[in-house]
Amino acid sequence: MNTVLAVETSCDESAAAVVRGEQVLASAVASQIAEHARWGGVVPEIASRRHVEALPQLIASVMAESGLGFADLDGIAATVAPGLVGALLVGSVTARTLARLHDRPFVAVHHLEGHLCSVHLGEPLPAGPFLVLLVSGGHTELVRVDGAGHYRRLGRSHDDAAGEAFDKVARLLGLGYPGGPAIQAAGALGNPLRFPLPKGRVSRPEGGYHPYDFSFSGLKTAVLRLVQSLRAGTGAAGPADPASTAELAAQDLADVAASFEQAVVDVLVERSCRCARDEGLGTLVLVGGVAANQRLRQRLEERCGALGLHWRRAPLAYCTDNAAMIGVAAAQRLAAGSSSSTALGVAARLPLQQSETLYEQQPSF
Ligand code: KG4
Ligand code: ZN
Repeated sequence: MNTVLAVETSCDESAAAVVRGEQVLASAVASQIAEHARWGGVVPEIASRRHVEALPQLIASVMAESGLGFADLDGIAATVAPGLVGALLVGSVTARTLARLHDRPFVAVHHLEGHLCSVHLGEPLPAGPFLVLLVSGGHTELVRVDGAGHYRRLGRSHDDAAGEAFDKVARLLGLGYPGGPAIQAAGALGNPLRFPLPKGRVSRPEGGYHPYDFSFSGLKTAVLRLVQSLRAGTGAAGPADPASTAELAAQDLADVAASFEQAVVDVLVERSCRCARDEGLGTLVLVGGVAANQRLRQRLEERCGALGLHWRRAPLAYCTDNAAMIGVAAAQRLAAGSSSSTALGVAARLPLQQSETLYEQQPSF
């Protein structure tokens, strides 16, 4: 089994981990959330600086906790795409430098492949291909997995990612960043059925709708209008007064948060279950930051139960960004005989299906 030191710096979490196969020997995350919260979202320049400051200590601590030396490692891994370029560079340069210094193979990892692999850190999966609903701050995708490295995207969001919709709606409700946990807390005692909100569908040029695709921008606008009309004290049906900045009544706030959450959860669950059924897949897997959402997990469990589908979720600690999932992905790649060139750069965007290019010895970027 391959033992890997992995680092993750694609966005606002600096993370390092040592894994052996699918077993985590040590994992540490330094979150920058408090710092970015002041600005209402991630500031790329600040993220890069904080990664530079945090990584040496994180790496030293996971290596010490694992009780291993660099000579015991089969590879050193980093996320190289997709993400914030400056942030990715910090992790990638660090891992490539360590790999050259200690003469270990370097393993580049696609961030979404890391999220897909986070499910292996939980209960074992039933045998056979499965469908993954990957919902994070940057992505909303339905991916069919036919084995390590064999991915086919069957659905995606055409605008905001689900987590991004949570973050933007939280901001307009004055709930702060990150929005997912804030909306979950605000909506816990709210009535999710009080405000029916649109379930964005994506038209096909040839007519009809993409059955497994998502759109959250209309939902966000509908929440904005709803909040404006509530603030103006007219109720949902009345004319909006965009100039009003009045506070929402506590119950209205709770009901808006719960209704928004319900609308997102309904489309995610309905379209993923339909996709799994149409593809003849018996297992549905939930990964990414939004997988931490309570309402989503409950609804998915109910629907999968009713349809006779197995469902699995990555352990809560590995839903949001971490390096253990990157380590598992790297260990799988090493086991398949792949490693990366230390000349490989980083990429802000790279479709998951192109993750094979990370293992070419003449890298294209
Ligand atoms: O996977 P992740 O840590 O980072 C990305 O790769 O994007 O996901 C972060 C996203 C944020 O948008 C955050 O608001 C959302 O996950 N999130 C949640 C919850 N916890 C985190 N969304 C809904 N409910 C939650 N409990
Ligand atoms: Zn992520």
